[in-house]
Amino acid sequence: MKRIGILTGGGDAPGLNAVIRAAVKTAIYEYGCEVIGIRNGYDGFIDENGLVPLGIDQVRGLLTRGGTILGAANRGNPYARKIIRDGKEVTIDVSNEIVKGIKRLELEALLILGGDGTLRSAHELFLKGVPVIGIPKTIDNDIGGTEVTFGFDTAVTTATEAIDKLSTTAEAHHRVMVLELMGRDAGFIALHAGVAGGADVILIPEIPFKFESVVAKVRERVERGYLFSIVAVSEGARPVGGGQVFARGGDEVYTPRLGGIGQAVGEYVEEQGYETRVTVLGHVQRGGTPTPFDRWLATRYGAAAVRLAARGAFDHMVSLHAGKIVDIPLEEAIAIPKRVDVNDDAVITARGLSISFGDE
Ligand code: F6P
Repeated sequence: MKRIGILTGGGDAPGLNAVIRAAVKTAIYEYGCEVIGIRNGYDGFIDENGLVPLGIDQVRGLLTRGGTILGAANRGNPYARKIIRDGKEVTIDVSNEIVKGIKRLELEALLILGGDGTLRSAHELFLKGVPVIGIPKTIDNDIGGTEVTFGFDTAVTTATEAIDKLSTTAEAHHRVMVLELMGRDAGFIALHAGVAGGADVILIPEIPFKFESVVAKVRERVERGYLFSIVAVSEGARPVGGGQVFARGGDEVYTPRLGGIGQAVGEYVEEQGYETRVTVLGHVQRGGTPTPFDRWLATRYGAAAVRLAARGAFDHMVSLHAGKIVDIPLEEAIAIPKRVDVNDDAVITARGLSISFGDE
């Protein structure tokens, strides 16, 4: 291999820089190969100054750094891009322009770090002749075909610390503390952090809840002498018979932004006579230095992706399976998004500990 490219698509996640570092080091030390960084997702192929050569000096100190040195773009779908034309906003398909940009660079492989949307675009680019390799990234952990994505462990760590901190105030003030967590349509962050932080109620998108069941749990605790409760709510959770709560609608370029279910739960609990406060943890979950697990996973993914490229296993994604790094076709990875299995031992264990999912 003489030259490969690397880009980070979608929102950022802790560990992106660690992947970039591992990929660049492996490409240079193992294969003597040049690496080009593409800035701001796919935009770098069409923007002026969108490309940056990445050598050992450029990746020094990156292991612990959150964000991405390449910049991220959450409007990165090459098939639907908003531009202003003749004073009006229009949506255009820039995929052919991007493919031309990639071919002009004569890349022998393009490593694409992204979530479901970016990986879907990666597969579509492969069908247009681009030699892509996918690397699964997202704090939501919702990508099929891999046991875990990098960024998830850091987000769970941050969310668990938040529950720990809220618990002390909840106990001191005899309050109900509701914590709204990220995750889109997957409840992994709320489930993992909720169990790790000892939450009393965990609400996730996979298990529609009843407001009254949440209050019943709070009441049951009060009756047993526990005057405070912790409720971890996934942003995508929804009541039985109701819909998800959105802070902003979406369109063909932007996905709708979830937000507000924590407030709705908090208001209901307070109306039933229990003093309640609501915290929305938001982007704190996406920031900061990656945990050792995420650094370890990101490093292994980055190096494995370069080895895959050298083998010519394009249109594949690196993934974690039974503790080993393997690879699977991108099409398989994007076919079925991963969700919490409600019959899995994690949910059964939580129920056994008397954690409520608001459904009983
Ligand atoms: O997919 C990662 C994620 O952080 C989700 O958990 C959240 O719903 C969304 O991105 C927020 O996106 P944005 O950064 O565009 O507000």
